[in-house]
Amino acid sequence: MKIIHVPDYETLSRKTAQLIAAQVLCKPDSLLGLATGSSPVGAYRYLAQWHISGDLDFSRACSVNLDEYCGLGADHVQSYHFFMRQNLFDAVNFRASWLPDGCAESLPDECRRYEAIIAERGPIDLQLLGIGHNGHIGFNEPAEQFVPQTHLAQLSQGTIQANARFFDSVDQVPKQAITMGIASILQAKKILLLAGVGKGEILRQALTGPVTPWIPASVLQLHPDVTVITTSSVC
Ligand code: F6R
Repeated sequence: MKIIHVPDYETLSRKTAQLIAAQVLCKPDSLLGLATGSSPVGAYRYLAQWHISGDLDFSRACSVNLDEYCGLGADHVQSYHFFMRQNLFDAVNFRASWLPDGCAESLPDECRRYEAIIAERGPIDLQLLGIGHNGHIGFNEPAEQFVPQTHLAQLSQGTIQANARFFDSVDQVPKQAITMGIASILQAKKILLLAGVGKGEILRQALTGPVTPWIPASVLQLHPDVTVITTSSVC
């Protein structure tokens, strides 16, 4: 595991964007695994700028996102579909991009459909991850067991509280999401984990403690090619 300490969010974002750009330059038909949330926003801004300036082309690359809230349509401003369009997709030129459909008629069928997309298009060349305060990756929440496949996740109370900052009130945060499972994440050839301000302690537990489904990110200790970019110096 490689840990890159950076002084601030700006450097974290630039470094992350550089590693994603390098992936696309070296393998133009890469499948990128993408995340939402605060951590990758700055990196997406750099990627958009580099594409607009003509320095980076995504026309042969595809993307799959980690997760989507249940019950929010693609045009809902808090949906992850909307987030990705606003922060990246509208500015760049991916050949194709997939996210789970959180409004599908049958959510179990949608989980199977999304899993089949990852199996057909995968393996993911580079998976970008943030980490939740409880150690979640994607919406793989702390639990008794790791769930390998794409599944319907119940968001923990802590995650609902943490994500309330994006909504008008905590009651509006969906209680369920469709998330890529731990096996799909671990099958990625390379993983890039971002941990900014406030994530130092959970990062330390995830990287130096036991591998346990109670801290889902701890499973990354088992992956052969993880790069962590962090503003924290605890590990
Ligand atoms: C987002 C996702 C989540 C976030 C995590 C950290 O698609 O899957 O696991 O990466 O909650 O969120 P931020 O970056 O907002 O701290």
